[in-house]
Amino acid sequence: MEITDRELTLLNFYRASELHGGLVLGRLAQHVRDTELILRLTAHSAEEVMHAQLWTETIIALGERPRPTSDTYQARYAAALGAPSSLLEVLTLTQVFERGVYRHFVTHLRRPGTHPIVQKTLRRMLADERGHLSWVKEWLDAQTGARRAAVPVLMRRYRVVDAEVRRQLMSDYEWGELACAS
Ligand SMILES: [Fe+2]
Ligand SMILES: [Fe+2]
Repeated sequence: MEITDRELTLLNFYRASELHGGLVLGRLAQHVRDTELILRLTAHSAEEVMHAQLWTETIIALGERPRPTSDTYQARYAAALGAPSSLLEVLTLTQVFERGVYRHFVTHLRRPGTHPIVQKTLRRMLADERGHLSWVKEWLDAQTGARRAAVPVLMRRYRVVDAEVRRQLMSDYEWGELACAS
């Protein structure tokens, strides 16, 4: 089964974004003091970096090579929002972003013609993504006072940006059939 150049570009974008996400979370782990949070962030960072490795291995298994790119989801969010400045902002954006990624991966998995090697990698991603969504939701729900009150406000703001970033990606990379509601 052949893979199209358009789909390869997509896999390479996933690869670069997983790595970028892992690095952002790892840097965050350098600056927090709470032991539980250090454990969560370090594990989450490691899984995203491993996802970059899995996409790289997937691209190689398809007989291709990873291509250097600085275009990632995270670069696009930063261009739209500026760099998130607090732990609360990074984790709220992570939650909004990873919900979108989850839906996007489900759509990619179900799309007729998705290569079996890609399907296998997507299934692994979805399993890990459920864990990411649940710990971040728990953490956000456990906040109190002004931080708790800020969560829905940030969520609304980030959902608008997320929808715009995804709309732009669909058009830049011609992901037509991967369009998913945000
Ligand atoms: Fe990931
Ligand atoms: Fe994730």
